[in-house]
Amino acid sequence: MKGIILAAGKGTRLYPMTYPVSKPLLPVFDKPMIYYPLDVLLQAGIRDILVIIPPGGVARAFEDTLGDGSRFGARISYKEQPVARGIADALILGAEFIKGDRVCLALGDNIFYSPTFGKNLRDALRHQQGATIFGFYVEDPRPFGVVEFDEKGNMLSLEEKPQYPKSNYVVPGLYFYDKDASEIAKNLKPSARGELEITDVNIEYMRRKKLKVSLLDRDFTWHDAGNAKSLLAAANEIRRLQKESGRLIGCIEETAWRQGFITTQQRNEVGESMKTTRYGQYLMNL
Ligand code: G1P
Repeated sequence: MKGIILAAGKGTRLYPMTYPVSKPLLPVFDKPMIYYPLDVLLQAGIRDILVIIPPGGVARAFEDTLGDGSRFGARISYKEQPVARGIADALILGAEFIKGDRVCLALGDNIFYSPTFGKNLRDALRHQQGATIFGFYVEDPRPFGVVEFDEKGNMLSLEEKPQYPKSNYVVPGLYFYDKDASEIAKNLKPSARGELEITDVNIEYMRRKKLKVSLLDRDFTWHDAGNAKSLLAAANEIRRLQKESGRLIGCIEETAWRQGFITTQQRNEVGESMKTTRYGQYLMNL
């Protein structure tokens, strides 16, 4: 399975912070935001990853952050999104990279954490024909994709940013697709906001009766770190969770090591290179 991280948003809701730095490279407490979705892909065992970046000469900053991926046992390639055409455009830009394989698409500003997340990821990986999305309860679902169920848990509808949401379950930015996703994306029409909506890709899978929704526990941590308030909330929560558990969240080299993608020596070398930080010491003491 391939992985795509969509990290091309301008981050207009974070201006002026995102004038000098692309949103996915901003810190969320003690590491760059993009580490968190990348860590999710590594947890799912995905090593072949395309990072979609904004145009305008920022590739260097992404390469300085992630390199070619060998530091954490992955193969990272980069592709610019020339025009911000929506999330589903990632599946079109990535069509050649996906090349008929299955793909997991992760949004560069979405942060997921739960000690039991592995189970959700394994379920999604097992579902080979079709698509798996997630559902998460929030107080105000209006800024998101919203999924509606009946009492038996059967999915009834999916809507993007509805004014009058039919449920409180939103669809976070992590999507697992079979080989048909790029083809479906290529046939989409732009929405009223002028974007190729990922929700429309999911609606097409639903129409084909090939869409599964995996519900995340209420105590799951999910943040869309798209504005200043949610970015700070995400950072504070990561800090609190790390303090309580004594473990780092989104530590890509740890996940790579646990997955057997890098050796203990490689892990320690990364730790050594930043040994004055908690991150470096943590890696060396695992
Ligand atoms: C996008 C998707 C939406 C999803 C959200 C998750 O919204 O369109 O369906 O729930 O990401 O973060 P956007 O970031 O474009 O507002």
